Amino acid sequence: MSSLLIKNIGEIFTGKQSIPGDSILIDDGIIVQIGHIHTPRAESFLDAKGKTLIPGFIDCHTHLVFAGSREFELDMKLKGATYTDIAKMGGINYTVNLTQKTSKKELFSQAYKRLDAMLAHGTTTIEAKSGYGLNLETEIKILEVIKELNKKHPLDIIPTFMGAHAIPSDSTPADYQRDILDDMIPVVAQKKLAKFCDVFCEKGYFTLEQSQEILEKGKKYGLPPKIHADELTQYGGAELAAKVHATSADHLLCVSDKGIKDMVTADVTAVLLPATPFSLMEPYYAPARKMITQGLRVALATDLNPNCWTESMQFVIQLACYMMHMTPQEAITAATHNAAYALGISDIVGTIEPGKKADMVLLDCPSHIFLPYHFGVNLVSHVIKNGEIIYPLKGKDSNSSLVFR
Ligand code: NIG
Ligand code: FE
Repeated sequence: MSSLLIKNIGEIFTGKQSIPGDSILIDDGIIVQIGHIHTPRAESFLDAKGKTLIPGFIDCHTHLVFAGSREFELDMKLKGATYTDIAKMGGINYTVNLTQKTSKKELFSQAYKRLDAMLAHGTTTIEAKSGYGLNLETEIKILEVIKELNKKHPLDIIPTFMGAHAIPSDSTPADYQRDILDDMIPVVAQKKLAKFCDVFCEKGYFTLEQSQEILEKGKKYGLPPKIHADELTQYGGAELAAKVHATSADHLLCVSDKGIKDMVTADVTAVLLPATPFSLMEPYYAPARKMITQGLRVALATDLNPNCWTESMQFVIQLACYMMHMTPQEAITAATHNAAYALGISDIVGTIEPGKKADMVLLDCPSHIFLPYHFGVNLVSHVIKNGEIIYPLKGKDSNSSLVFR
């Protein structure tokens, strides 16, 4: 049995609140005791030197696997182009073209680097969506790369099938809808390559009817729904999320009051992605305060994708506080405990409690309030995953020399 004692902790923020206690004992990757541990028995020790311990971040919405980059879009955005303007020249279909042509090995190594950056910034579990394939072969290729990354990288990765990310340029909405329903969902489910099914429910992408049909089909095949909802327009995505009992509805910049109410009643988690409006240089953010006041469970995630490229949940927490007026406590809870709800894993990770998996981050600051307060730097001192210190790496910068088999 392997054990680790972390001692001299300055503050423990559990994912819900600050609690007293200067030590934590971990046995075989599970938290067993928190408090002042008098007779410590442990094989290894970590002196926290008064730093702050929080749960590892759970990035519950990422488009991890994609080929290339779209830095040229920044210039377009600076000249005032909107998401819709960009989609005509760049956007999702630009990345789809590149991803279709890129080998598994190359996709693996590009994504592995992103996972290393996530880990260095304190993330211990992520969700990763397919969606830059838009045909059966490439969607499967992406999901197989995600499966291999999950095996080879210390981060835990939960896969989501998102064939319904856009209409491919060589198809029609009706034909592509058929492909998703008749070919993709059955094969993805049969190969056990995804835990969730997601849809970009938006004008010009998938209508409410199409989205519902895809999500219901996914459910039949054992894939609970997630929805990109009300991102660009008020479209009824949140109401649909409630109707199909989605695990989460994500983005929600333009959500209606009724959508918020429906989500509360149906216990759908709201996943807010403030790095997206930031990257699009939009002036408006999701109404987090209204959601919290009305009792909606709010989670945070990066939305990592070629339009919004950040691996840092610290940055997302900072945006949540400064742009959506979430308190430090609300934002960190959203990035840990509530994010675990958005992935259906809240009984295993997301908080620091006896019985939970020891996925934790030691921050080089005296309290959790510093996380938004001291912004623009990496505050991570150590990352503990399954009870082992995996960052900083001992004597080695990165494992990224590992390649796809
Ligand atoms: O979550 N909303 C749809 N998809 C992504 C953007 C993808 C892209 O532009 O490549 C998102 O924001
Ligand atoms: Fe997204």
